[in-house]
Amino acid sequence: MSDAETICALLRRSIIELCVADHRDDPAILDAWLANKIPDNVRRWIERPDNNLLVAAEGDDILAVGCVTDSGEITLNYVSPEARFRGVSKAMLAALEAAARERGAESCALVSTETARRFYASAGYLEQGPPERRLGSKSSYPMAKRLAAGPEKG
Ligand SMILES: CC(C)(COP(=O)(O)OP(=O)(O)OC[C@H]1O[C@@H](n2cnc3c(N)ncnc32)[C@H](O)[C@@H]1OP(=O)(O)O)[C@@H](O)C(=O)NCCC(=O)NCCS
Repeated sequence: MSDAETICALLRRSIIELCVADHRDDPAILDAWLANKIPDNVRRWIERPDNNLLVAAEGDDILAVGCVTDSGEITLNYVSPEARFRGVSKAMLAALEAAARERGAESCALVSTETARRFYASAGYLEQGPPERRLGSKSSYPMAKRLAAGPEKG
């Protein structure tokens, strides 16, 4: 399997198996959510110059995938079902925030799933207005966090 295929398979399993509170196994919601999770798109996300796609790995296994744009928009943050609640997403989120900060972003923004809402709140993200309705009837929560200034250089 290519890296893009492996990453894509993780994204799909994380959504299908972990985000049941969001899609409630509704095929219409799931189909819409998974439609852009295909290897060709993952390849494009890896190659986009203003995008930073990160993976957490243990040996040959990919445990989590995250992506942040140079301007601080977190567009992916998915953990493998086997690696859930081991601190992997917490570490991934910190790495995404560090990548955004290094590229000059002063804050990070994302649209959370119901599944991850509490996780982001405990990481310091604040809700930005009311939930959005996405992909049919799924609730999505716009959230943002101001990034602390990085260490002084020199
Ligand atoms: C919710 C989710 C993102 C958390 O990732 P994770 O790797 O399992 O979380 P971590 O092990 O890094 O845990 C980080 C903290 O969140 C807590 N936590 C997060 N979600 C929790 C939940 N549903 N139940 C209990 N505790 C939870 C952990 O206890 C931990 O806190 P602590 O270290 O202060 O004790 C992940 O489990 C998940 O389900 N992802 C599905 C994909 C998804 O929704 N991604 C977000 C797209 S916007």
